[in-house]
Amino acid sequence: MPPSAIPEPGVRPSDFRFHCLDCGHVADSASPDYRCPRCGDLLEISYPEWNKSGIRSRASGISADDLKSRWKERRLSSTPVDLSGVWRFRELLPALNAAHVVTLREGNTPLYEMPQCARIAGVPRLYAKHQGMNPTGSFKDTGMTVAASFAHHAGYRWIACASTGNTSASMAAYAARGGMRSLVLVPEGKISWSKLSQALDYGAVTCQLRTDFDGCLRLLQELVLRAPVHQLNSINPFRIEGQKSLAIELMEQMDWQPPDHIIVPGGNLGNSSAIGKALLEMRDLGLISRLPKLSVIQTEGANALVRTLREAGGKRLISVNAETRATAIRIGNPASWKKAVRVLEATGGTCEQVSEVEMAQAKAEIGAEGVGCEPASAVTFAGLKKLVKQGFVKAGETVVLILTGNLLKDPDFTMEFHRGDLFAGTPHESEGTPLSRLRRPPIVLDATLDAVLRTLEQADKSAPGC
Ligand code: F0G
Repeated sequence: MPPSAIPEPGVRPSDFRFHCLDCGHVADSASPDYRCPRCGDLLEISYPEWNKSGIRSRASGISADDLKSRWKERRLSSTPVDLSGVWRFRELLPALNAAHVVTLREGNTPLYEMPQCARIAGVPRLYAKHQGMNPTGSFKDTGMTVAASFAHHAGYRWIACASTGNTSASMAAYAARGGMRSLVLVPEGKISWSKLSQALDYGAVTCQLRTDFDGCLRLLQELVLRAPVHQLNSINPFRIEGQKSLAIELMEQMDWQPPDHIIVPGGNLGNSSAIGKALLEMRDLGLISRLPKLSVIQTEGANALVRTLREAGGKRLISVNAETRATAIRIGNPASWKKAVRVLEATGGTCEQVSEVEMAQAKAEIGAEGVGCEPASAVTFAGLKKLVKQGFVKAGETVVLILTGNLLKDPDFTMEFHRGDLFAGTPHESEGTPLSRLRRPPIVLDATLDAVLRTLEQADKSAPGC
């Protein structure tokens, strides 16, 4: 049975069940691989107690307006669960006693206006919700606090994940905070040093496997059936519940007036599924009155969802051999593809792909606005430009990009871009030329006033990057 809730007067805990999206099977508990015991598909958490009253449901027995003011009031509180930008919205999460919450004060991420990028893309209002401002530098922390807390509650000694880098960094940190051990499986040579170094620093047992991410995830799924380790990939539905908070916090920041579009990068497709689930739940609970269109962007070299939708109508997964410099989304066999197809269809969103060069340009433009992000996050802006040209995003519409990772997550990419050798020796070498106006390579000078003044003068005459 679900554990007891964080006690608060007048609030009923959000009792939850595991629900198979494919065959509809409902259960109180789940097996270690979080697969449906009947059909083997992924499970989702549902809340049977959210009762319908009139046309709208109620979470925790209270109305939408009361929820909004309760969440606002909690911003003045100094308890760990209220300081967390995830647990502050706990009425929409599975119930858990506060004593088991493992938190690093995740969430609470900024929503930036992006006027320069808006001009480039040709939209009137563009915002970036920067999930890279989370404690370990990526959106993973919002899901990890929930999944790690439930692992803690269940008494697991070991938690484990397969990762392209960010999940492992985040899981290792939350394991350490919760007094658990962590096992990380990453593809050897295919993740950024900066993410790998985080896992080491937080004390994970880190295995670099001679395979890709998809191979790591396959192995992990076998491992959890053989060893007492609890898996914290986004197959774990508690991760999805925590990642919903991104969308809830975003709506609160927009005063509950949804934007027309939300654009997110797609890898294993847990995040898009989580954002979509949150939007649908918020609509059903009367917290928002209409749904933004949720769209997913991938790179051309890791475009499993794009192909699945275009070539198979979203009915069966088309896996690919993924190859992209956006190592975070170098995934060819996304686990949550069915969930993502469902939320794209439910919100009226779309899926698009961008080239390596388009991604690199978009990243430099986001950086030039003083915001910065890791390469995988920049596909959102590159994708937006395409969606505007195609007329999918229309004149006058408001758009929010989800920046999933911090600029400092992949310094090699940024340095190679600015030095001009990012695409050296690759098929994209000639396409890379238009990017030169955005490059700002470091300048080595003699330590004289004259040399610095001359450089300043030259720079002042040259046109700004964007
Ligand atoms: N952006 C970043 C920075 C990521 O690290 C990831 C996924 C994604 C986007 C895609 O999100 O998988 O939910 O569709 N990183 C995972 C990891 C796979 O292991 O760190 P998704």
